[in-house]
Amino acid sequence: MTRIAYVNGRYVRHADASVHIEDRGYQFADGVYEVCEVRHAMIVDLTRHLDRLGRSLTELRIDWSMHRSALVMVIREVLRRNRVRNGLFYLQVTRGVAKRDHVFPAKGTRPSVVVTAKSTDPGVIAAKNANGIRAITVPDNRWDRVDIKTVGLLSNALARQQAREAGAQEAIYVDPDGLVTEGAATNVWMVDADGAILTRPAEHGILKGITRSGLMDVARALELTVREEAFSVEKMMDAREVFITAATSICFPVIEIDGRTIANGHPGGVSQKIREAFFDVAEKTSIW
Ligand code: PDD
Repeated sequence: MTRIAYVNGRYVRHADASVHIEDRGYQFADGVYEVCEVRHAMIVDLTRHLDRLGRSLTELRIDWSMHRSALVMVIREVLRRNRVRNGLFYLQVTRGVAKRDHVFPAKGTRPSVVVTAKSTDPGVIAAKNANGIRAITVPDNRWDRVDIKTVGLLSNALARQQAREAGAQEAIYVDPDGLVTEGAATNVWMVDADGAILTRPAEHGILKGITRSGLMDVARALELTVREEAFSVEKMMDAREVFITAATSICFPVIEIDGRTIANGHPGGVSQKIREAFFDVAEKTSIW
């Protein structure tokens, strides 16, 4: 099957898809993105993802270059053309193409919009859920607007690479006060001795994950206690459970951090319960 991408108004072969060398996303990371899960041909939490995209665009003063309903049509079309039933779509909007200059280009410069989609292997995700993953901690060296989902992910890429080289799958950022912020591409959670689920408040220092919001809905439905409360690395190491969330993985248990075993070294029950209930509670939009 030929993979198809949407690039600025056209559906093109993925292998041939390209943007101009002076796209500001390429030169300045001047753009934003969303990654959204698709399961059983249903887009998960699309409204929240598009709302966050709108917020990111507003924060960077990039215009919505197309109507939201038109964008949804494009997303569905890309998913259908790529025959994605279980997988994800990636959506990126940059400030567009202009002669290299740090200041914004002239009004009327058209933002670049790219949508791609791919299938994922449910077996790989199931294995990570069954076995849990390993993580390392790293100092959070990012700028202080990580609440905006920009394509400027160099720190995140370096952190993930460091994790990979340490035999781990995620890097957990730690702020100068020794408090956990989030993962390189995930939000981080712990379950304390009383069974309460803790995660850092989303006002500052983290991306407000869509899966994070979904998890809070699920926790409410299951009558679990969730508190938005920052926690230290030491507290996390003594947790009953640690897990991470992102649209691509929902909820992966973390069984080891910096070589230290978390709890009994096996995936915990809370993350499993949440994962099982997640799709029932989430908003689902058919790709058809
Ligand atoms: N990453 N924090 C960071 C830094 C992230 O990059 C992500 C998602 C999250 C979780 O957000 P959400 O639940 O909305 O996916 C938190 C995506 C999946 C990525 O960059 O591929």
